[in-house]
Amino acid sequence: MGWSASRGGAAGRLYAFEDSLRLAADLGAVDGLAVARVTVHRFPDRETLVRVPCPVGPAAVLVRSLADPNGKLVETALAADALRRAGARRVTLVAPYLPYMRQDAVFRPGEPVSQRVVGAWLAELFDSVLTVEAHLHRIRRLAEVVSPGSVSISAAPVLAEWVGAGGAAPLVVGPDEESEPWVKAIARRAKTPWVVGRKRRQSDRTVRVEFPPLPGGARAVLVDDIASSGATLAAAARALRRAGVRTVDAAVVHALFAPGALARIRAAGVRRIVSCDTIPHRTNAIRTAPLLADALRGRSK
Ligand code: R5P
Repeated sequence: MGWSASRGGAAGRLYAFEDSLRLAADLGAVDGLAVARVTVHRFPDRETLVRVPCPVGPAAVLVRSLADPNGKLVETALAADALRRAGARRVTLVAPYLPYMRQDAVFRPGEPVSQRVVGAWLAELFDSVLTVEAHLHRIRRLAEVVSPGSVSISAAPVLAEWVGAGGAAPLVVGPDEESEPWVKAIARRAKTPWVVGRKRRQSDRTVRVEFPPLPGGARAVLVDDIASSGATLAAAARALRRAGVRTVDAAVVHALFAPGALARIRAAGVRRIVSCDTIPHRTNAIRTAPLLADALRGRSK
């Protein structure tokens, strides 16, 4: 993909790796910004060479969702350098999914705080980072760990829209206490009741979720920022079904879905599972481009 009718604007042109082209095109379409493809050559020794199409203007926006992050982080760093060497004076990273944000403390002696490490690295490379619903449970703002001006955009408005479009007000359910402000924000917008559970994680794939006595209702929508192993949604769905909820649907922001996750969630009785398009996945049903475009536009004013 080369340049199409290009309107760079102060927000800058969009550059995207192959795996994020669709999201970048959707984002570009909102404001008529063209998308240029960043290419990756893999050498026999498995090093990579990244190339950005030239010429590059003074402001560049690199779009890359960073699920399955390790290799992508290196390529993204190389692209930031390439964009600057080709002329960009300001480089913004739009990473609809930002990894390593859950590793935000030393949970056991001997561990790093990966959130800080990855945040500091991105801060060196990018003038700012835009993401959707970063997992920020121990800090309030993304800019505390990445570059100043970096923003995590709430997905609550688009999730609330999806919840509201599904008919008679369902019970909106968060699986853990940490999710309460977010769940409340979704429920307030969708004009529905809400509840959060109490979660205990015993291992990567073993989770227990309990709920207080539930208000009556035939349908619940489980919401969560991330579904990885699927254990959280599955445990929450089982608890809801035990409590007599007839229909459980689930809407998540980041569809990481490790192998077996969807089957685990469905086996727990979830009827429909949808996700935002921050990570390309067959459950994607909720667009985030309008949210990202607003945020990009905001920073060009
Ligand atoms: C944790 O605090 C997050 O909000 C998610 O609930 C969690 O990351 C989901 O992971 P899994 O699908 O592996 O249970």
